[in-house]
Parts: sequence; structure tokens; C-alpha cells
Amino acid sequence: MPRILALCGSLRAASLNRRLLRAGIAMLPAGVEAEIADWRDLPVYDEDLEAQGMPAPVAALRAQAMAAQGFLFATPEYNWSIPGGLKNAIDWLSRKPDGTQPFAGKPVALMGATPGPGGTVNAQSHLRQVLYLLGGQVLPPPGVFVQGAGGRFDDAGAITDEPTRKAVETLMAALGKAVA
Ligand code: FNR
Repeated sequence: MPRILALCGSLRAASLNRRLLRAGIAMLPAGVEAEIADWRDLPVYDEDLEAQGMPAPVAALRAQAMAAQGFLFATPEYNWSIPGGLKNAIDWLSRKPDGTQPFAGKPVALMGATPGPGGTVNAQSHLRQVLYLLGGQVLPPPGVFVQGAGGRFDDAGAITDEPTRKAVETLMAALGKAVA
């Protein structure tokens, strides 16, 4: 059964992007499984630390990423780019202790939500560039760029806005097809 590793760019409990990620996972086609990665305990990347052996949280995340057939991101934009914590996780994942690259040749779907008007266009553009370098097959447009996101979810995290729901559904169908 295909398995997706889902990564959220925000750690906060009330994260709009975590709601978006959960909503996306719920819309994946039947037969596709997903788990949300936890990168909270990753240390800041340091080559000296890596030389001592992969820290346990990195090794665990790497094993999840290697086992996944595809990836789903939902991220906020911080200062017109990728949140540092998420970029740190990708930087750790890009290291190849055994010569393997977790993203190489695998489908990747990108989404993002922001309360403002920008829709995370800059963050997703930067993320696409990084993942391209790492061999990820980032799905083509139309993507999911949720602006004014504060008003598009209910308290339970469900998407209340039909165009947003439809955009997520379309992307999840494409991701499901790509990993099938
Ligand atoms: C932001 N935010 C933000 N929003 C945006 O649209 N473009 C941006 O460049 C930034 N920059 C930025 C920097 C930093 C350090 C923070 C903390 C926030 C606002 C951001 O979109 C908002 O806080 C989201 O709600 C964060 O996503 P989650 O936590 O709701 O998923």
C-alpha cells in the first residue's frame, strides 16, 4: 500500500497549515496511507554533529522518509520563504550516510496557508526549488495556495470554503495517482 509522509511547516497547536495537512490526508484516495512527520526534536544541522552519527530524531525521520512512496507538505511562509525549522528538516534529510536520497524520484505535493493575501507563493516557490535539487518530482500546478486562511476552516479543522476544498481534493487525487 502506498504511503505518504506528510510534513507541516508549523509546530503550533492551532496551525492553519496543520489543519490543511489533515484535511488533505483525509481526502487521499482509498488505499493510500499517510503519516505526519514530527520534526520538533531535530537539532539544528551541524556537520560536526553529523560526523558523530545521525542523531536519533534524524535517523527516525530519515527512515520514515525512505519508506515513503511520496510526500505532502503544508507550510506557512516566513519572511517570504520556507520556515527555518522545515528547511532544517529537509537539510538533514538531504544528507546521504548510505548514499540514498529520500526524495529522489518520488512525487511531492505542496500546499500552504496564510492568514494574509500572499497564499505562501514565495515559500512554495523556494520549497519547489529545494526539492527539485533533491530529485523530488513536485506535482505541477494547479496547486493549493490558501490566502485569508483564518476564515476557511472551522474549529474542528474542516475546510469550510468550497473552492479551497476542491483545490485540495484535486491535488490529493493527483498525488494518489502519482504514487499508485
Ligand atoms: C509570518 N507570516 C507570514 N505570512 C505571509 O504570508 N508571508 C510572510 O512572509 C510571513 N512571514 C512570517 C514570518 C514569521 C517569523 C512568522 C511567525 C509569521 C504569518 C504566517 O503566515 C502566520 O503566522 C501563519 O498563521 C503561520 O502558519 P500556521 O502556524 O497557522 O500554520
